[in-house]
Amino acid sequence: MATPLQDLLPLEHPIIQAPMAGGATTVELVSEASRAGCLGSLGAAYLGAAQIEAAAAAIRERTPRPFAINLFAAVPEQPMRGDGGNMLALLARFHARLGLPAPEAPGPQADLLPGQIEAVLRVRPAVFSFTFGRMPREALARCRELGILTVGTATTVREALALQEDGVDAVVAQGAEAGGHRGTFLDDFDSALIGTMALVPQVADALRIPVIASGGIMDGRGIAAALALGAQAAQMGTAFLCADESGIPEAYKAALPASQAEQSRITRAYSGRPARGLVNDFMRETDAISADIYPYPQQNALTRPMRTAGARLGDISVLSLWAGQGAPLARRESTAALVARLAAELADARRRAGG
Ligand SMILES: Cc1cc2nc3c(=O)[nH]c(=O)nc-3n(C[C@H](O)[C@H](O)[C@H](O)COP(=O)(O)O)c2cc1C
Repeated sequence: MATPLQDLLPLEHPIIQAPMAGGATTVELVSEASRAGCLGSLGAAYLGAAQIEAAAAAIRERTPRPFAINLFAAVPEQPMRGDGGNMLALLARFHARLGLPAPEAPGPQADLLPGQIEAVLRVRPAVFSFTFGRMPREALARCRELGILTVGTATTVREALALQEDGVDAVVAQGAEAGGHRGTFLDDFDSALIGTMALVPQVADALRIPVIASGGIMDGRGIAAALALGAQAAQMGTAFLCADESGIPEAYKAALPASQAEQSRITRAYSGRPARGLVNDFMRETDAISADIYPYPQQNALTRPMRTAGARLGDISVLSLWAGQGAPLARRESTAALVARLAAELADARRRAGG
C-alpha cells in the first residue's frame, strides 16, 4: 500500500510532520515523529547555521530515521507604503500592557539564508524542504549530488510547475485551509487561496513528480482523502502542534482544540506576510489598520518582543496563534500516540473506502 515517495525515503506512514519555524518543531517533536515512522521536519527558518547543525546532531542522537530541514526562500523586498507611526502607536499600547518599553521602527533584517543553506548541505538531512518561493538552482543541484531530496511549496498549479522546472524532487500543495504562513510566491495571495480538495488533484495532474497534500488534514480520514486525490503523503502541521513534544506555549496548545473553525483568519498583522491563525486582540486591532502594517520581514521583527513576552506570560491575546481550519479537531496526546492513532484511522478509512 506504500506510495513511491514512502518507499524512496523510506517511511512507514505517508505522513510528514510539517516544519513549523518559531519553536514548535523541537528536537523532541521531530525525532519522535521520525521514530514513529513519519518524516519529522525541523522548521529552521529562524535558526542560524550553528543552531541548525546542533539541532540536527541532537535529532540524530535520538533516531537514525530520515528527517527534513526546512527554510524560507528569499522574498523580494517590499517598500513600506503606509504610515509606520500608526503601527508603532498601536503596538506601543500592547507593549505598555505587557510592561515592555515603547517599540522602535524596524530596520533592515540580516539575511540568514546563505549560511543556512550551507549548514543544510553540511548536515545532509534526507530531505530539504522550503516555502515562500524558489531556491537557487545551484543549491538544488548540490542537494542532488549529496542525495538530499528537495521539496518546494506551491499554492497554485503555476507555482508547482515552476518548482518542478527548477528541479525539485517533490512539491507540497498547500491549500487555503493550512495553518501558518502562505507559501504563495508567483500569484497574488488572494487568488492563491485554493482549497486543498481542489488544489491537490490539479497539481497531481500537472506534475510528473510526487505531490504532498497540506492544509486542514487532521486525522486518518483526511490522509485517506489526500491519497485518493493523488497525493503521495500528507503534511500535517496543526495536528502535531498539540502534541506533548511540540514547543508552543501551553496556553496556545490549550486554545486549539477549544477553538471553532470560524475563529480562523488570514492576517498580515504579525509578520507582514499573510498567515492563517486564530483571531485575537492584536490581530483584530492591527487588521483594522492593515495599510500601515510594515512589510515582511520588518513587521515580524517589530512584533517579536511582544510575542516573546506573550509566550512568557501565557497571554494568547498577543501571540501569533498559527493554526489551520481543522484546529478544533486537534487532540492533546504524545507524538507516538498521535501517529499510532493516525495510522489506525487511515487503515480504517481505506478499508471503508474499499468496501
Ligand atoms: C505554527 C505553524 C508554523 C509553520 N511554519 C512553517 C515553516 O516554517 N515552513 C513551512 O514550510 N511551513 C510552515 N507551516 C505550514 C505547514 O508546512 C503546513 O502547510 C500547514 O501546517 C498545513 O496545514 P495544517 O496546519 O492545517 O495541517 C507552518 C504551519 C504552522 C501551523
